[in-house]
Amino acid sequence: MSAFVGSAGAWCVAPVTPSRLTDGLTTSFPRACRPVTAQPARMALATPPSSSSSSSSSSSSHSPSFWKLSDAERRSAMQLPGGSDGFSAKYVAFDKSDSSEHSLDEVVYRASGGGLLDVQHDMEALRRTPAEAWKDLFDRRAGRTVWPYGSGVWSKKEWVLPGIPDDDVVSMFEGNSNLFWAERFGKELGMSDLWVKQCGNSHTGSFKDLGMTVLVSQVNHMIKSGKSIKAVGCASTGDTSAALGAYCAAAGIPSIVFLPADKITMAQLVQPIANGSVVMSLDTDFDGCMKLIREVVEEYPIYLANSMNSLRLEGQKTVSVEIAQQFDWLVPDWVVVPGGNLGNVYAFYKGFKMMKDLGLTDRIPRMAVAQAHNANPLYRAYEAGFDNFVPITAQKTLASAIQIGDPVSIHRAILALQESNGVVEEATEDELMDMAARADRTGMFNCPHTGVALAALDKLLKKGVIDPNERVVVVSTAHGLKFTDSKVAYHEKKLHQCSSNFANDVVRIPANTDRVIDAIRKRVEL
Ligand SMILES: Cc1ncc(COP(=O)(O)O)c(C=O)c1O
Repeated sequence: MSAFVGSAGAWCVAPVTPSRLTDGLTTSFPRACRPVTAQPARMALATPPSSSSSSSSSSSSHSPSFWKLSDAERRSAMQLPGGSDGFSAKYVAFDKSDSSEHSLDEVVYRASGGGLLDVQHDMEALRRTPAEAWKDLFDRRAGRTVWPYGSGVWSKKEWVLPGIPDDDVVSMFEGNSNLFWAERFGKELGMSDLWVKQCGNSHTGSFKDLGMTVLVSQVNHMIKSGKSIKAVGCASTGDTSAALGAYCAAAGIPSIVFLPADKITMAQLVQPIANGSVVMSLDTDFDGCMKLIREVVEEYPIYLANSMNSLRLEGQKTVSVEIAQQFDWLVPDWVVVPGGNLGNVYAFYKGFKMMKDLGLTDRIPRMAVAQAHNANPLYRAYEAGFDNFVPITAQKTLASAIQIGDPVSIHRAILALQESNGVVEEATEDELMDMAARADRTGMFNCPHTGVALAALDKLLKKGVIDPNERVVVVSTAHGLKFTDSKVAYHEKKLHQCSSNFANDVVRIPANTDRVIDAIRKRVEL
């Protein structure tokens, strides 16, 4: 083992004092290029006292001398001092009354009792590594090029899929998405501490990459180990199929996607087409596609890639670890997430719970799930006190990726909400498009689903559920560029259900200087 591994002294820079950070922030750095290390100082200024007391802080582990290391030393620096073997995970039933267990190397989607599966890690083994060592390891790996640890997901490999050989991993170095301080938009809402986790800034433009890298890696591993898997398939509202197509293409594994005809955007459709998937456009809705693929995978050697498959949630849970890491291991007060099939909210809860259980943080944030009014089965169940869940037929929503009436992960979501003292809010088409556009005016470029989350945030603030001084992270689940049709229609005021209060239509005038100047003067004082 090289001399520096496990030797904290060799890895730590001198602690950066708050005054140095504040000086740098206020005197040297223009807003647009202020350094990442300066953010905590800004955050500390804006943080209510309750937030700052909520975490165990960690010393900085940034290595100023990583570039001096040999390749072998760099690889070695990606491991725990005692090596990263000895960790394991297995499938258990989500329903605790079902004691069935399976190896992750089995092709199995349901527990013996028919319920969902959950990936359970050997927490005792993970606990043998102190919290500070985990933080240092994760900080050391993030963004590096050493395979596969630079990925935001695989930098947490021991917590995700510990047994897989590095060579079997299929990764595009996903994750590590920016956590954007929505300073201007937050101020508009009366908030001081609003952040947007930009999960759409990713290889296929949505958070789905985080789970798909795990699932396709495991499939790749199983195929290499001799399992008879001929293809991977999914039903999708657009983003899952894009991620599946890309990761399978990277691994050279055939993929099949079941899509509801005319219910996804052109940008989403072209992604699996480009990646060579078998693309099927079916005359049904998402729930109908889901039913069909479940029948198909039961009969044929096609591996199911939907979020019913708990492997994907293991990748998605790293969003929570990343959020805490980006706040230097502080936990925000709230995480607001748009919900459809409801895997994400459970995955995020799992990530926060795991960090707390392993001592990296000391609490779980409150979760708020945001649904479109037209596809709101969870909201209805929440309003009824979670006594009884009734699936619905989802109506058309511009937040098309969450147009789901019978969410697979409903019970996972209810658990996450109950355990985190969470809430559910809904947004109409008018509200979600207006909030996406209003936030765009402050520099974002939101997909309609992020609009649902932002509209829900606004409502929860107005209801007094979220305090304007609390630290809130809104999870942006996809890139706005995948949803340009509805965004253009909004700005052209062509959406029937929307009043387009923040529309900014293109000025169409003859190419004449006077006319151009007149048009500019209407908006800008010259
Ligand atoms: C852009 C986007 N946002 C939100 C969601 C909802 O995620 P979940 O199904 O995990 O609730 C999806 C999933 O389909 C999505 O593609």
